[in-house]
Amino acid sequence: MTQKSARKILVTSALPYANGSIHLGHLVEYIQTDIWVRFQKMQGHTVHYVCADDTHGTPIMLRAEKEGITPEALIERVQKEHYADFSDFLVEFDNYYSTNSEENRELSSNIYKVLKANSKIAVKTIEQYFDPVKEMFLPDRFIKGECPKCHAKDQYGDSCEVCGSTYSPTELINPYSAVSGAAPVRKETEHYFFKLSECGDFLKEWTRSGTLQPEAANKMSEWFESGLSDWDISRDAPYFGFEIPDAPGKYFYVWLDAPIGYMASFKNLCSKIGLDFDEYWKKDSTTELYHFIGKDILYFHALFWPSTLEYSGHRKPTKIFAHGFLTVNGEKMSKSRGTFITARSYLEHVKNPEYLRYYYAAKLNGSMEDIDLNLEDFVARVNSDLVGKYINIASRTAGFIAKRFDNKLQMSATQPSAVTEIKNAAKLVSEYYVARDYSRALREIMRLADLANADVAAAAPWVQAKQTGDAAQQGLHLDCSSALEMFRLLTLYLKPILPTLASNVEKFLNIGPLSWENVSDSLTTGHQIQSYEHLVTRLDPKWIDAMTEANKENLLATASPATQNSPVVATLPEAEYISIDDFTKVDLRIAKIVNAEHVEGAEKLLKLTLDIGEENPRQVFAGIKSAYDPATLVGRLTVMVANLAPRKMKFGMSEGMVLAASDERGGPFILSPDEGSQPGMRVK
Ligand code: MSP
Ligand code: ZN
Repeated sequence: MTQKSARKILVTSALPYANGSIHLGHLVEYIQTDIWVRFQKMQGHTVHYVCADDTHGTPIMLRAEKEGITPEALIERVQKEHYADFSDFLVEFDNYYSTNSEENRELSSNIYKVLKANSKIAVKTIEQYFDPVKEMFLPDRFIKGECPKCHAKDQYGDSCEVCGSTYSPTELINPYSAVSGAAPVRKETEHYFFKLSECGDFLKEWTRSGTLQPEAANKMSEWFESGLSDWDISRDAPYFGFEIPDAPGKYFYVWLDAPIGYMASFKNLCSKIGLDFDEYWKKDSTTELYHFIGKDILYFHALFWPSTLEYSGHRKPTKIFAHGFLTVNGEKMSKSRGTFITARSYLEHVKNPEYLRYYYAAKLNGSMEDIDLNLEDFVARVNSDLVGKYINIASRTAGFIAKRFDNKLQMSATQPSAVTEIKNAAKLVSEYYVARDYSRALREIMRLADLANADVAAAAPWVQAKQTGDAAQQGLHLDCSSALEMFRLLTLYLKPILPTLASNVEKFLNIGPLSWENVSDSLTTGHQIQSYEHLVTRLDPKWIDAMTEANKENLLATASPATQNSPVVATLPEAEYISIDDFTKVDLRIAKIVNAEHVEGAEKLLKLTLDIGEENPRQVFAGIKSAYDPATLVGRLTVMVANLAPRKMKFGMSEGMVLAASDERGGPFILSPDEGSQPGMRVK
């Protein structure tokens, strides 16, 4: 192999918010980046992979308040959790830092000052919703009210979860603060803006420079067409973040200091291992800079971030690699289906992180398309390919080397053609890795594993082993040794994806850490290996079932989807008191359960038919299957919410909600009214 000159490469993944746990969706990104970094390191390049927790902003401030701790204590705890999750998924950062660091405060302030000196900062008076009880300005997500389009209650200030329309919080009917419940008032305040509207020419040119994937460049054109507006980079106190220099009471909006957090984490690394920060960040730097991000944050990374860098005298990213979103079984991750799975929960139930790394790699192709984790396919693919094809090569041959040949290898004078073909694939496999097209890389590697297996099958060592005579012994020795050489090569190709497994194979084969140049080596005659020990267990589908079961939230079926997938909002403090008028908005009725039945395909739901004295009975899906046999419910009286907006569910319309009690002590328990009450009576 020709020795390429070593490149200097800085790689980042997006900084996860410090107010929620790492879940399988996040891991699409961190595993994808880690594979690429490990691959580039195996090439002999100098690579630094940095990340950090993204710690600032209103949600984190409020969450800490709700937990009765300081934001600093919250972010410290979460950072430890995040770091442990990443480590356990074998995501190996060279530095994992925090945006709430001195390095970041200094870099953010300095960058801001240069932007200001370059006339890129404007101050404007804006009008915003203000919570008069909590005395704070409210981000859109913290204002709720009635949807102006479909009149669904309790919708967020920016979009309606029921009809899907988007609007501005000023359009909400009867808005209220999600923090205190108070009616917000409009209030004027001064905000600082970055003049993005003046960056159009620079950004258009930059977009043409090949930094972005074609799909991302198309998105940019859409944004250019709709016009670039100035970017609001300040927030008023109270806010958890950095105060803006010479602007008391004004803080940098979290998205101003978050990407600068990439620099800050690297700066911290520089001080630890003695690197030259400026070499990597100065305007004419010859080092390379890559950002892996999700498609949802392209706007920040492709518009704001390069502009911030350009006008503060820094280099721009070499490339931005955006990826799609994770779906599970073809749908958005969902708490009620048990598919909103945290990293920790996966580790508890499935344990081996390399199954997931393998599966994600098999799905990732370097585009912005969403990727699906189909749980059945996950089990099948891991067992058939990873265990059935790759591991199989060693497990079928290594035993003979131990038993018959004292764990010493015997290589044939002429290289078997399958070995040659596997070696020759190195260039193609590395091109796929470079392009982040891991799915193609794995398809090629599995094709090569098929070749190896076909060789083993043709040699049939288990048959040769039963034959007597030197020729059979010699054949057995050569064939098993060559199978292990193929296993070594395939391990090398798989190493970025399966680092722990590869390191166990290195121990088994008694060789040093594999890097890409070892493709041209070979195991040699007389080389002594270790006795084969089991390398990977088959994935048991029961572990997956236990995991989804454990992640199912005990939600009543009609619970608002607004509380799903949004850990931030789910933990908001509720308004403490409601008025009697608020209460009477809820139309509670005595309902007679005239029918109850199982719903095909629903794991938690029963379908109830409820008589509340109307002409037609109501159909309601209730998440009580775990606690009730439908037959015992028929004829009972209970209590239902009769004026909940009908909701279309996977299994049909649900026209209300039955009430039930539950907590960690048990449940759900549905309610029973006292004797004498009749269907349709109002409960108040
Ligand atoms: N804090 C910001 C990023 C700041 S970078 C300067 C943020 N944090 S996040 O925790 O919401 O997301 C972190 C990364 O994970 C983002 O790139 C995001 O796109 C990615 N993902 C979060 N959920 C995801 C899926 N369900 N699927 C795939 N990627 C996902 O955004
Ligand atoms: Zn609506």
